[in-house]
Amino acid sequence: MTKLPDRTAAGAAPNWLGRSLTVEVGPVAHGGHCVARYEGRVVFVRHALPGETAVIEITEDGGGSFCRADAVQILQPSAHRVEPPCPQAGPGRCGGCDFQHVSVAEQRSLKAAVVHEQLLRLAGLDRPVDVKPLGAGGLGWRRRIRFAVDSRGRLGLRVHRSHRIIELAACPLGAPGVGDAAALATPWPGISEVEVAVDDLGEAAVLAYREAGTNRRTGGGAEGNRWTRGRAAKPKLIAEQVSGPARLTYEVNDRTFRTQPGGFWQTHPQAAAEFTATMMSAVRAEPGERVLDLYAGSGLFTAALALAVGESGAVCGLEADRSAVSDAAENLSDLPWAEVRHGWVTAATARQTASELGGADIVVLDPPRTGAGRDVMTALLDIRPRVIVYVACDPAALARDVRTALDAGWQLGDISAFDAFPMTHHVECIATLSPPRLADPPAVGDR
Ligand SMILES: C[S@@+](CC[C@H](N)C(=O)[O-])C[C@H]1O[C@@H](n2cnc3c(N)ncnc32)[C@H](O)[C@@H]1O
Repeated sequence: MTKLPDRTAAGAAPNWLGRSLTVEVGPVAHGGHCVARYEGRVVFVRHALPGETAVIEITEDGGGSFCRADAVQILQPSAHRVEPPCPQAGPGRCGGCDFQHVSVAEQRSLKAAVVHEQLLRLAGLDRPVDVKPLGAGGLGWRRRIRFAVDSRGRLGLRVHRSHRIIELAACPLGAPGVGDAAALATPWPGISEVEVAVDDLGEAAVLAYREAGTNRRTGGGAEGNRWTRGRAAKPKLIAEQVSGPARLTYEVNDRTFRTQPGGFWQTHPQAAAEFTATMMSAVRAEPGERVLDLYAGSGLFTAALALAVGESGAVCGLEADRSAVSDAAENLSDLPWAEVRHGWVTAATARQTASELGGADIVVLDPPRTGAGRDVMTALLDIRPRVIVYVACDPAALARDVRTALDAGWQLGDISAFDAFPMTHHVECIATLSPPRLADPPAVGDR
């Protein structure tokens, strides 16, 4: 019989913060941890593997039904456990990685289990997936890292769910020029964050972020691009490029793309080509078709789609970041039937853009981690393209949005998953959605 947690006199469960417990570690869960149960409570355990017996230390107890913990001693290790390649990985240390203690092949199995579980739980679909590797090994792939700056002005990364910064001499996940950036050896007084990004030419750009209203960094070379980027967390930071080219250059399928150094580009060196190829084989675009490319960035997918539909077709992207929109205008200048417009993707802007195209045969969307959401998804289904291809960096958001499509009678076709972020829990999925056949209206529960 499961022992229930002791209760305080007031009836609340006691606070377990700081307690050491010995647990059997259960399955992996979304977010870079595994699930264990102790005295009837769920504990999300980092640095553990399914099937292990571990001593864990509770790091958070919000008083609700679950706690968070780190595995601090492994009594019975999994066969998939390895020595972390980074000396800064581990409980209470750098929070940049979740799976340094797991073989790279097993990391993919864990991510496959998470995608499967999210689709099952949130979309009601029992659909096992494989997670494909992008390139060999799990290190040296990150072409952009945003470092935190500690009180001494040194660069580092934050501890998981903490403001504490672990100073780093190098980051083994970083690509050459990023993980070993010269910026790591330099003090950054008065700066909040420093971002280093490298392109396909091996050129690195360095951006310094300072809080709005503070003095600019002195002696850092104020030339180059300066722009403001909103961030989810306050305070607002202002970026200033301190070194490197004004545009980063990337080659995908013999096309050159240029982006401003602070703008979005796929981080893993193989991701842009692989995602484009998978998306294109899913949409099967024909000459003359009209395409909506939502969350279009600087036009990576827009260009491939435009080449496929040709000048008798049309591709219209929507993108909220003005600098990405201006990069897209340059990247698409030889494809006048394609454009990326500035705007937030909402149900209204999606409908409006499709109606200006005279309808959409194909919709491609590549939203941020929050996903598209019910309203946008409903608008896309109402536009009734012949296919929707959803590129997702969060399997929970994908599963929730797929559920909206299934509820409207759409079908989930192929789903591909990629290990585009080795050593972390992140996984990229590309899912194909097909509308219900007109002659065969959906029945409730017909999936
Ligand atoms: C994952 S990136 C994809 C970009 C592009 N598909 C690529 O692969 O290069 C998502 C993009 O969506 C943009 N974005 C985020 N939220 C948005 C919104 N609500 N409306 C429009 N664009 C948004 C971001 O600025 C970013 O460029």
